[in-house]
Amino acid sequence: MAPVSAPAVTSDARRERSVGPAPGPRSLGLEIRADRVAIVTFDVPGASMNTLDARFMPEWLEILERLERSTDVDLAVVRSGKADGFCAGADIDMLLQIANDRAAAEMSLGGQEAFDRLAKLPFPVVAAIHGPALGGGLELALACSGRVASDDPKTILGLPEVQLGLLPGLGGLKRLPRLVGIQEALDMALTGKNVRPAKARKIGLVDDVVPRAALLDAAIALGRKLGRREPRRLPFAGLPGAARRFLLEENPAGRTLLFREATKRALAKTGGNYPAVPRILEVMQAHLGRGGKRASETEARVFGQLVVSDVSRNLVGIFLDQQSLEKQTWVPDGIVPKDVRTVGILGAGLMGAGIAYASLANGMSVRLRDRDDASLGKGLAILRGILDERVAKRAMSRAERDRTLGMVTATTDYSGFGAVDLVIEAVFEDLELKRRVLREVEGRTEDDVVFASNTSSIPIGRIAEASRRPETVLGMHFFSPVHKMPLLEVIVTERTSDRAVATAVAAGKRMGKTVIVVGDGVGFYTSRILGPYMNEAAHVLAEGAAVDEIDRALVTWGFPVGPMTLLDEVGIDVAAKVGKIVHDAFGERMAPPAIMEKLVADGRAGRKNGKGFYLYGAGKKAVDESVYGALGQGVPAKRRDGREIAERVALPLVNEAIRCLGERILRSPRDGDIGAIFGLGFPPFRGGPFRWVDSVGLPVVLAKLEALAAKHGPRFTPAPLLEEMVKSGKRRFHS
Ligand code: NAI
Repeated sequence: MAPVSAPAVTSDARRERSVGPAPGPRSLGLEIRADRVAIVTFDVPGASMNTLDARFMPEWLEILERLERSTDVDLAVVRSGKADGFCAGADIDMLLQIANDRAAAEMSLGGQEAFDRLAKLPFPVVAAIHGPALGGGLELALACSGRVASDDPKTILGLPEVQLGLLPGLGGLKRLPRLVGIQEALDMALTGKNVRPAKARKIGLVDDVVPRAALLDAAIALGRKLGRREPRRLPFAGLPGAARRFLLEENPAGRTLLFREATKRALAKTGGNYPAVPRILEVMQAHLGRGGKRASETEARVFGQLVVSDVSRNLVGIFLDQQSLEKQTWVPDGIVPKDVRTVGILGAGLMGAGIAYASLANGMSVRLRDRDDASLGKGLAILRGILDERVAKRAMSRAERDRTLGMVTATTDYSGFGAVDLVIEAVFEDLELKRRVLREVEGRTEDDVVFASNTSSIPIGRIAEASRRPETVLGMHFFSPVHKMPLLEVIVTERTSDRAVATAVAAGKRMGKTVIVVGDGVGFYTSRILGPYMNEAAHVLAEGAAVDEIDRALVTWGFPVGPMTLLDEVGIDVAAKVGKIVHDAFGERMAPPAIMEKLVADGRAGRKNGKGFYLYGAGKKAVDESVYGALGQGVPAKRRDGREIAERVALPLVNEAIRCLGERILRSPRDGDIGAIFGLGFPPFRGGPFRWVDSVGLPVVLAKLEALAAKHGPRFTPAPLLEEMVKSGKRRFHS
């Protein structure tokens, strides 16, 4: 778009009169200026961010009526009264309180009608966007005749509804493709991704991007220009790929093809588990096809159905859980965490390098120690690799990368550890070694420095036995790859002090992680519930199921990868070792099937030695069929029921999660759901183990476990807490 001409009116033009604000707090203000510019200011009282709530609807209608009748307005600007936000979309609590699909559909239809009236005002309306314009906030901006955004990093535009299992129900699916083309619109609506101002201008989502201070002037200038009704350019002229887009999007056959392809891709990606995805495609197609009132009604009806669906309720629940975890400190009021400026990391392997990255990327310096220069070199190369990847993705500049690398220093002794504020060890998974490094480093750090172990299975209490100040010892269990995985599991023993917990939680949050705090024990929470899941997959394999059939069953159920692939990635040898530890700790319930030993004896370590369940050469992923020979089995011929396999493998994980809650390893079902989803990839649309049990029904899950126990043995014995809850008539884990 051509730059907007110089502002015709300045923002400090004399105010003539204010209209609107009746007594009581209001969310909308209307000011009609002497220069015939109407300024609509959206400012929800008592909130730091604007959200759309049905409670404010009468105010919108009142203002629309006033503008429709006006003879004293040439153009209007819609802006936010908030310091750093335009509008974040619908109010989530309001959505949760909607009684049924019809009520939700009515709300959508009412909102669509209001935005249609805004779009039809007899003069131009321009949205002045600073800060997030998301979901309904963006739909509001789309209903305007033009949009100007500030170039501020806080300004982002997007339709994130799909991430909550919803669809944009205020006309966004009608307006967006007309503005940016079908392909960009699908990309935004199906991924929910944020679009930054420069990209928004490039794809035509906004007309102009200006410094924040010039926003209002630029919006007024754009309104004046639109009011002169300059001839509109051809929709896609001049934009990259214009000819292709014109061919595909402007002719009906091309469009049908586009939607068919998009549906296929979306189904492949979501396995049909996210109903909002095909429904977004359906509604956008309805608007682009026959359109009109019928399409609006379809949009409202589908919106209503999605709002009350289990999937959406689960995804919204997780979103709210995450928000509550962001605020939670896990310690009594008044406990102040130690300010962590420098992190000392022991072990520069895969995990040590990843933790170093998470610290450096969030403004903390790092002192990195390993046994020798060669190991340090390897760790620094991993770190550099992560940073280079960020540079390649343009998420970081070269100068920033170099500055970041300048914040890490490396050593083979403990020099410099006197100045660190937190120690995280990520040496080999060996109790004696971990105790030794703890003793060594303790003599060199300040007395209140927290020692955190990144062990994936060893009880923290056992490591702390070697400490002179066990109150400073805890676990910080990161997940691999650290720079991508969002979870941090903080493990506390009975002796860990509140200050140590506060320090680890604050540092973890600063590293950008979602933090849960759990009790101590073998495998704590996440590794512990993974044990019986992996074991059961191996049992199914030992009974003659095919490797890829097991993986497919669990992926269809919603896990990002199947258990066989996961075993190859983690290392079959490592899994066999952990399996023994878990077996020792928990007894028969966690006994690994004999095939694990057979696989190890056959030299199968997984991807790392190129020999596992799958072939690791060039070409498409394929099962290494020699694995069946190694197990003393033939290549499976019979195909099994995928759903049955999936439930049988997932239920032991769920049952173990309930045991963890019963044993107070978990403090709440919320932490269990977040830990399983963000740490292990438990299907988000199922809401986590506890929400899943809630939606299936506690007695139903109990009966399933009892049936499996009768068939396959006592490892399926239901968790005592589940039995108790069913006996006492409790219906849900989540209130
Ligand atoms: P790794 O083998 O890649 O790295 C371990 C590093 O520790 C090596 O560089 C080694 O030279 C170093 N090291 C050994 N003795 C040392 C000493 N005395 N002082 C300083 N450094 C020493 O192992 P990885 O995968 O990074 O795992 C490290 C820890 O993290 C283990 O406890 C593991 O169980 C845990 N973990 C691993 C996860 C994974 O997926 N790899 C996930 C979560 C935790």
